[in-house]
Amino acid sequence: MQADLSVRIASLTMQNPVGVASGTFGFGQEYAQLLDLDALGALYTKAITFEKREGNPAPRLFETPSGLLNSIGLVNPGVEAFVEEKLPFLKTLHCSVVANIAGSTEDGYCRVIQAIEESAGSFGNGVDAYEINVSCPNVSHGGMSFGTDPSQVERLTRKIRTLTKRPIFVKLSPNVTDIATIAIAAEQGGADALTCINTVVGMAIDIESLKPRFARETAGLSGPAIRPVGVACVWKASRAVKIPVIGCGGISSAEDAIEYLLAGASAIQVGTAIFVDPEVPFKIKTGIARWMERKGVGSISEIARILK
Ligand code: SIN
Repeated sequence: MQADLSVRIASLTMQNPVGVASGTFGFGQEYAQLLDLDALGALYTKAITFEKREGNPAPRLFETPSGLLNSIGLVNPGVEAFVEEKLPFLKTLHCSVVANIAGSTEDGYCRVIQAIEESAGSFGNGVDAYEINVSCPNVSHGGMSFGTDPSQVERLTRKIRTLTKRPIFVKLSPNVTDIATIAIAAEQGGADALTCINTVVGMAIDIESLKPRFARETAGLSGPAIRPVGVACVWKASRAVKIPVIGCGGISSAEDAIEYLLAGASAIQVGTAIFVDPEVPFKIKTGIARWMERKGVGSISEIARILK
């Protein structure tokens, strides 16, 4: 039996469940010489803010056992440059494209959506869906400070809902007491799907200089170290809401991806592992298909139902 790898998230059909996570793949063009981007399930762009952002002072990355700490600070060229310089390339792709949106204020998020809506035109056409970033731990305003407050998540999602017919995915933070509460708030605000999870707050200290390694002291931990946290968040969130959950966090093999799908994810994203092996999304796709054939599973959506 040939496995059907396609997944449906709200009105969007992805050709396979494997996406590349926001912040690990730029705006796609950076990898175009290296990989067949059309074969991805989805490409999630780097976060886009209304104004250009220079980001946090260096160093911005620090490796830990089985993980990577980052303090990037939402570096991006701003929505105007996104529309003029990045969107034309994204329009040529055959994979799904999800624009990750960030802001310091509610109005900031809304202005990015409005600018893209005006330029991207009809459904598809360069941006198939939005991923609302209420979970970046590396900025002082917006980001995670929005995503840890259920009433703010609901209000922001509701506002964005009035601005677009494109599907809205809300990317959640694991740095909360109860992710189910935030998941329900996003669903009530009108989200079409959730992404679980963004990075886990972490810190590293240089014992010679006696200083934190990052200017903002804490940072976001990604990579294999956070996979069990992500799997648990997907499991909890997918049981709390009716909308699909997209799994993310420490996925570097087909086995890792299948673990997320069994926990309740409808699709997955690969992030940090791309820095080690850019081909890994395709290896994961092939591995999932082989596992499905071996297990006699016909479709991706069946996987979540077979967890015992
Ligand atoms: C960053 O730009 O600091 C990371 C993005 C994120 O965690 O959402």
